[in-house]
Order: sequence, then structure tokens, then C-alpha cells
Amino acid sequence: MSTGAPIQRVNPMPRSLNSLASCLVRPLQLPCHMRILGILAAVFVAGCMGDVPTGGNAAPDAAPIAIDAPPPPPPIDAPDPAALIKEWSGCMTLANFKTAKMAVTWGSLSTTNGQQCANCHSTGGQGFIASLNETVYFQMVTQQSAYMLKYFTVDSGKVIVNTQSLKNAAITLTDHPRFDPTNNPGMPALQKFYDLTVAVKAAGPCPAPVLVN
Ligand code: HEC
Repeated sequence: MSTGAPIQRVNPMPRSLNSLASCLVRPLQLPCHMRILGILAAVFVAGCMGDVPTGGNAAPDAAPIAIDAPPPPPPIDAPDPAALIKEWSGCMTLANFKTAKMAVTWGSLSTTNGQQCANCHSTGGQGFIASLNETVYFQMVTQQSAYMLKYFTVDSGKVIVNTQSLKNAAITLTDHPRFDPTNNPGMPALQKFYDLTVAVKAAGPCPAPVLVN
């Protein structure tokens, strides 16, 4: 068979197509048309099967590579702000308060329209104290956190001068009388009181805290 003459096909058309062709010229024969439908259905099914993915070249939607979450950072040993404020209350001394001239400057400071801060704040009204009465002023700032925090606050683990509360009153609060929150006689006094208090703390340990609440 392998080396013989080419096979002579009497009818080169596949049998199914051959009968299909003969069927087409005899349109009224029902079995013929059933056969056409059968062939079309087979072609349709084969066409569908051609779309079945082979898997080999499938898109890379395989299982994602598991990446280990980084370990949580070690807890930073930041001091508790409340503890810092409490400690700070013991570091502030009346002697340094006087040396820094806190009462003289803040107690006589005025707003741009000439109103003394003490006019509204001399006894701590409106959540802020500024008074010529050194003893009362010092007690309020050291014993009451609400008043202390208007002058000092905690940032990044240490006590700093609270410039923000003064800017709030001077610039942001719409109903508050305006004043310069940066260049006024009170700010250098506050900075000096801060520096002296930092020095007490650095020499440490500070006297017992006096903060009441
Ligand atoms: C006419 C009265 C009046 C005068 C004068 C006045 N204040 Fe006030 N101050 C207020 C009132 C009222 C509030 C509360 C406003 C609020 O909480 O909305 C306040 C609030 C503040 C606060 C707290 C802001 C905050 O963030 O909570 C500061 C600080 C302050 N004043 C500083 C001053 C200084 C410094 C002066 C003088 C330069 C001054 N005030 C003059 C009435 C006054």
C-alpha cells in the first residue's frame, strides 16, 4: 500500500458532503434536511469545543504569591503625654515664674484694640489665665491642666511652648479680639519661663508634681 500507485478516489468528496450536496438539489426530502441539521450541529459543537482553553498558555491568574506582612514596628518608648505634663507641673517654680516676668508681661498685655487680656482672663475666665497676681496666676498654670495646656503642650514626647492656642485666640477665633501672637511682651517671658523649667528638669529630678487635675 505504501509504495503503490495513488489511490484513485471515485468520489473525492467525503461521503457526508456528497450526500449533503445531493440533498440540496432535492429540497423536499425531509430525511435529507434532518441530515443537514445534524451536520450543522456537529460543526457548531466542534466550533464551541475549539474555544475550550487548553490550560498551557492560560493567563497568569494562578494563586498569588504570598508576601509576608512586615513585622509590626517595636513599640516606641514614648513617654505618656499626661505623665509629662504632670512631671512638668513640679518642674515649674514660682521663683522662675517671677524671674521670667510672666505676670508683669501677660497681666498687662493688651489686644490690638486696647483691651487688656486680664480684663477677660484675670481669674481664668474663658479658659485662659493672664493676671498681674503672680501667686494666683502661677497656681492656676501649675495646678490645672486646662490652664497649663494653653501655655505648654506635648509634642513628639516632650513639653513645648503652645504657640497654637495663642494663635487660635489672636487669629482664628472670629469673636476674639485680635493681637499679635508672636511679637508681644508675653512671648519672650513665656520662652524664658520654659527654658528655666527645662533646666530644672534637666538637673532633675523635679520636685513632686502639683497638678491637681
Ligand atoms: C473681651 C474679652 C477678651 C479679651 C480682652 C481677651 N480675650 Fe482671650 N478669650 C476671650 C474669650 C471669650 C475666649 C473664648 C473663645 C472661645 O472659646 O471661642 C478667649 C479665649 C482665649 C484663649 C484660648 C484659645 C483656645 O485655643 O482655646 C487664649 C489663649 C486667649 N483667649 C488669649 C488672650 C490673650 C493673650 C489676650 C490679650 C492679648 C486675650 N485673650 C484677650 C475673651 C477675651
